[in-house]
Amino acid sequence: MELKADNGEGIDSWKEVTITYSAALRQIETRMEILNDEFQHVHQYNPIEHIKARIKTPESIVKKLKRNGYESTIDNMVKYINDIAGIRIICSFTSDIYRIADMICKQKDIKVVARKDYITFPKASGYKSYHMIVTIPVYLSDRTVDTKVEIQIRTVAMDFWASLEHKIHYKFEGDAPEHIRNELVECAKLVADLDARMLSLNDEILAISQAPDR
Ligand code: GTP
Ligand code: MG
Repeated sequence: MELKADNGEGIDSWKEVTITYSAALRQIETRMEILNDEFQHVHQYNPIEHIKARIKTPESIVKKLKRNGYESTIDNMVKYINDIAGIRIICSFTSDIYRIADMICKQKDIKVVARKDYITFPKASGYKSYHMIVTIPVYLSDRTVDTKVEIQIRTVAMDFWASLEHKIHYKFEGDAPEHIRNELVECAKLVADLDARMLSLNDEILAISQAPDR
């Protein structure tokens, strides 16, 4: 994609898009790892199980622009595509999700542009996850570019559900048979129940290990 445009955001070529967004992604990833290390030191446990980061392929950027009725320009992708840089943070317990979201919000140079709490308000499909669109400054040689990153935070169980649902969604091109959709909604309820039970089990273990006579 060899497009040139001035979008007022300081990005004017495909090469710059790649450099800037992958820099933003790396910064967020490193900050998450730092928080995880520090959390381990203070609370003796890791809230983050693992992290997946990806840059959207040019093909899917163009497809998404088209789907939303925009021309394929650098200008439009920077303005309208919020998930060019995407990071998925997988944690153990639902409570970790809000803790991590909160820690991200508190970082002074990170601005939260939007957030969607699909944990409190799951999608009709059964999808649960906490989403944030943030910007983080990327310092280039001659300017600073506030760059958007989509952050998805979910538990291991929610991630397991989302991966299978995603596969099914693709397999049936978004039009899965009703009984499969219903079964997925049922599985999402089981996932929510499992998450709640694992959390209360963990709370119980923590309470025992912190009891004064131990
Ligand atoms: P796009 O789906 O990216 O166009 O964004 P949106 O503006 O609808 O935002 P939303 O926060 O709903 O979704 C962003 C991303 O979350 C998607 O690209 C998926 O990665 C994920 N997601 C949202 N809904 C679902 C769902 O029902 N199932 C699965 N597996 N993933 C979902
Ligand atoms: Mg997306």
